[in-house]
Amino acid sequence: MRLNRLRRLSTRVAHVTSPIYYPNAKPHLGHLYSNLLCDVTHKWKTLNKTQSLFTTGTDEHGFKIQNASEKNGYKDPKLFVNTLYKEFVLLNEKGKINYTRFIRTTDEDHIESVKKLWELCWNNGFIYKGEHVGWYSISDETFYPESKVIKDPKSPDKYINTESYNEVSYHSEINYFFKLTAFRERLIEYINNNPAFIYPESKKDQILNELKNSNNIQDLSVSRPATRLHWGITVPNDPDQKIYVWFDALCNYITSIGGIDKLKNDELATDLLHQPANKDCTVHPSKTWWINTTHVIGKDIMKFHAIYWPSFLMAAGLPLNKQIIIHSHWLCNGVKMSKSLGNVVDPIEMIDYYGADTLRWFLLENSQLEEDGNFQEEKLYEAREMFVSKWGNLINRCCGKKFNISRAVSDITSKQNPEKYIKGQFLNDVDIVRQIDSIFEKLNKLPQIMDDKLQKYDTSSLLREIWGILFDANTLMQHSAPWKMTPTQQDCIIFICTETTRILSILCQPIIHSFCNKFLDKLEISKDRRSIDYIKFASDKSYGLNSNLSQKGVPIERVPKRQL
Ligand code: ME8
Ligand code: MG
Repeated sequence: MRLNRLRRLSTRVAHVTSPIYYPNAKPHLGHLYSNLLCDVTHKWKTLNKTQSLFTTGTDEHGFKIQNASEKNGYKDPKLFVNTLYKEFVLLNEKGKINYTRFIRTTDEDHIESVKKLWELCWNNGFIYKGEHVGWYSISDETFYPESKVIKDPKSPDKYINTESYNEVSYHSEINYFFKLTAFRERLIEYINNNPAFIYPESKKDQILNELKNSNNIQDLSVSRPATRLHWGITVPNDPDQKIYVWFDALCNYITSIGGIDKLKNDELATDLLHQPANKDCTVHPSKTWWINTTHVIGKDIMKFHAIYWPSFLMAAGLPLNKQIIIHSHWLCNGVKMSKSLGNVVDPIEMIDYYGADTLRWFLLENSQLEEDGNFQEEKLYEAREMFVSKWGNLINRCCGKKFNISRAVSDITSKQNPEKYIKGQFLNDVDIVRQIDSIFEKLNKLPQIMDDKLQKYDTSSLLREIWGILFDANTLMQHSAPWKMTPTQQDCIIFICTETTRILSILCQPIIHSFCNKFLDKLEISKDRRSIDYIKFASDKSYGLNSNLSQKGVPIERVPKRQL
């Protein structure tokens, strides 16, 4: 009952989360990609007047970090992560990623939250102590069953697992266990009743198949002896054990909306914004944020988010979040990026050369949720070329000395029905009317199409729609040759082209903020008219005052191919 009321109240609230990354090495392109999907979603919602939060961060405990810290000569892992977490902050800054909180699992409020989650699961009888015998992969921070362990073909004294092919080693020790088996059937039922919980559908089916075979689901070891794992959160009331890093990390998603207590007790979420953004965010209960929370993750960590995490939540008596979006991976020239192959793409190097907006557009254009993307620097270069030649050039032509944008805007927007008026100027040219009609129709439909496609994280087809409109406007400009027309007709063509640019630039701000604002600047669009209230054709009644006079140069510059 109460939950239903919250869902109704909360239609205009959204929280999107990226994974929190291991700060054991510098971030790479894949990390930027997940954050980019979140950033675009967050900015799109904000543009559309939904109150939105976006949280990201670093996963700082566990063996992986403990070992990396030792290897790098640090005595205290905290000092090690203190340097590396900054690389992730820097990547976000460079990539123009605007989160509302950067959460570190060493933050005090997070540690409190994890302990609370543990206590809830413990008090409800879903955690017990036992002996654990099995194979552990530090690289994946997970145990593998005997059936998934083989001898490493490359070095016979080592063992690897058949899921990630990372090394595993054998351990026998006292651990706490989580009764994962108690949730197998409930989870199957939940996923069947909430088919949008895991998206895309193929991944939902994969999770369901995994759950359906009861042999796959065993109780999960959720602690490690403190003698072996020093770097972790201590198990409440047992100083000899540290909490398993995934139990700790997943809880970040609740820390970031106020913590376990607030969620459990249905309290208001206060102090959510470590970064100034949407100041109304704190008036909602944590639960409102939570049931509107979407986790965006890579396919490598599906099992943790779609099986373990909902089970922990059910065990703690907490509601489940709204959705899990699972994306595929980036390869480099067709090969999986790996440090040992030396083909890891450094996103900062690309941003410094091609600019953040070019890289953002390239990543969104060349990726699909269900298929691995292929990074090629050549294509990144081409993406920038396309901007300059199609979008930048369209604006330059409109800003030519022969034309008068400001006159066109004030004349045409003063007509009662600008669209009809424009078509009325070309009655003897069916071809132009057809082209104009098609542009009007596409512009009108675009906001809804963008919303639908972003809902599905279908960014490549979204960007295709945008190119489609830009190509149409370029064709109209080329084909109708306004420089040969009467001033009235000329104004109509120029107006359609500037309106196309104006509307697309407002709508694409969540994707390429800096390019769009350069375009809007060039057209002299007032800063307070770059919001969603101005995306209708002819809705901004005055702009372009000096656009055809000033010699401000092109809005974006070409960059030459990089010499490697
Ligand atoms: O797994 N292509 O952290 P992690 C696309 N700390 N995305 C990629 C990618 C690639 N080639 N490589 C990595 C962890 N990613 C845990 C997460 S969450 C509670 C804890 C992205 O540093 C993708 O989102 O190994 C993937 O799931 C994540 O980075 C793994 O980052
Ligand atoms: Mg990883």
